[in-house]
Amino acid sequence: MTQANSQASSILRDATKAIAITLTAATLHLTGCAGVTQDASLYRALGGEQGIARLVDRFVEEISYSEDIAPFFADTDPDRFREKLSEQLCNISGGPCEYTGDSMRDSHAGMSISEADFNKTVDLLINAMDKEGVPYPTQNRLLKRLAPMRKDIIYL
Ligand code: HEM
Repeated sequence: MTQANSQASSILRDATKAIAITLTAATLHLTGCAGVTQDASLYRALGGEQGIARLVDRFVEEISYSEDIAPFFADTDPDRFREKLSEQLCNISGGPCEYTGDSMRDSHAGMSISEADFNKTVDLLINAMDKEGVPYPTQNRLLKRLAPMRKDIIYL
C-alpha cells in the first residue's frame, strides 16, 4: 500500500468509527439505554403506573362480578395476578417495565378457555376501561396489542 493509500484508508476507518459511535449514541439516547426502541405514548395515555394499577384493580373487580369468568380465578392468588398483569400492560404499552410472569401459553394451559370466554373477558376489560374513563382510541390501541395473545390463551 502506498503512503497516500494507507493515509486514506486510515481516514476512512476513523470516519467509519465516528459514524458508528454517533449511531450508537443516538440509539442509546432514543431507547433510554434499554436496548429496545419503544414508544411510551400508550403507557402515558393509560395514565402510567398509577393509571394501569387502577385499571387492573377495576378489571379484577369486574371479573369478580362475572358468573362466567370469576370461577376460572377460584384458585388464583389475586395479588400475583394484579402484579403480573400490571407489569404486562405496562410493558406492552411501552412503559418502563419488564414482564416477569409466565408466558401466556403456560399461564392459561389446561383451563380450556373458549373463544366466548375470551370475548367475555375482553368485555370485562372494556367495562373496566369505561369506568376508569379511558378514551376509546386508547382502549382500541391497548386491545390491538392484546389481540395477538388470543391464540396463546384459548383452547389449551
Ligand atoms: C388478552 C387476554 C388476557 C391477558 C393479557 C391475560 C394475562 C394474564 C396474566 C399476565 C396472567 C398472570 C400470569 C402469571 O401469574 O405469571 C394471567 C393469569 C390468569 N389468567 Fe389470563 N389473560 C388473558 C385472558 C384470560 C382469559 C380469557 C381467562 C379466562 C377466561 C384468563 C384467566 C386467567 C387465570 C385464571 C389466571 C391465573 C392463573 C393462575 O392462578 O396461575 N385469562 N393472565
